[in-house]
Amino acid sequence: MANFIDIAPLSKRLGAEITNVDLSSELDSETVDEIKKAWKKYIVLLFRSQSLTNQQYVNFSKNLGVLDEAPLDKDGKMMVDGFPELLIVSNIEENGTAVGSLGNLECEWHTDMSYNPKPPMGSCLYAIEVPDEGGNTGFLNMERAYETLPADLKETLAGKRIKHDATHNSAGQMRQGMTKPEDVTKSPGAYHPIIRTHPETGRKSLFLGRRPNAYIESFSSSESEFLLDRIWSHITQSQFIWEHKWRKGDVLLWDNRNAMHRRDPFDNIKRRYMHRTQISGDSPF
Ligand code: SIN
Repeated sequence: MANFIDIAPLSKRLGAEITNVDLSSELDSETVDEIKKAWKKYIVLLFRSQSLTNQQYVNFSKNLGVLDEAPLDKDGKMMVDGFPELLIVSNIEENGTAVGSLGNLECEWHTDMSYNPKPPMGSCLYAIEVPDEGGNTGFLNMERAYETLPADLKETLAGKRIKHDATHNSAGQMRQGMTKPEDVTKSPGAYHPIIRTHPETGRKSLFLGRRPNAYIESFSSSESEFLLDRIWSHITQSQFIWEHKWRKGDVLLWDNRNAMHRRDPFDNIKRRYMHRTQISGDSPF
């Protein structure tokens, strides 16, 4: 007999807290189905006070789909030995070398890995060490942002594709092997429909990737910049945003297809250490 989860919405925009579930245990299929249903409905799910080994965290994540492998570190090694699916998000350094990625800087609004042809459908972060302040993570409901877009913008963007820049990460750092784009119409990155359809719910949302070096196909770069400025000033209104203040033991799961996220900077003297898993996705349509 399944042990049904409890669901409490966290805001009117998106997000729900799930209680009555211990992610370290093997979940039965009814519980997994309940979690997936809630995920589809609320876009972001929070599970508090979890205590997970690496294997238990990977096992939980695998309930949600096939996991992507995390990028290797600069020496070509797995970030977490024996767990190719785990990416470390952290500001901690050991012997002068960062143990993970993204550091303590602000991360601008973005969709994970959307510069790839098949961006992940979702991401999950497990908080192992958190600072007492700073480093909050915000989420933006891109379905609401699309629904409320001015009609002329909706019409202009219908059927258009946008390039998701591959040159920089969300903390504004240049990726390995990349150079600063001179011309956004030619720089590397995957093109995706700017209005995408959620494959499970059929709902439409804006799919923007991130602001710097984005480019909307078939416009000149200055026309594209003008449109992008209008779009971004619309979507970044507080009416679409919910922000999470982390506690140790939090697991936060989000849908990468219809939510964007960002992170506040924090004092680099404080330690923040998290493991991220990513659930594979298909080409957006
Ligand atoms: C991420 O962009 O996946 C990391 C977000 C965070 O550090 O809160």
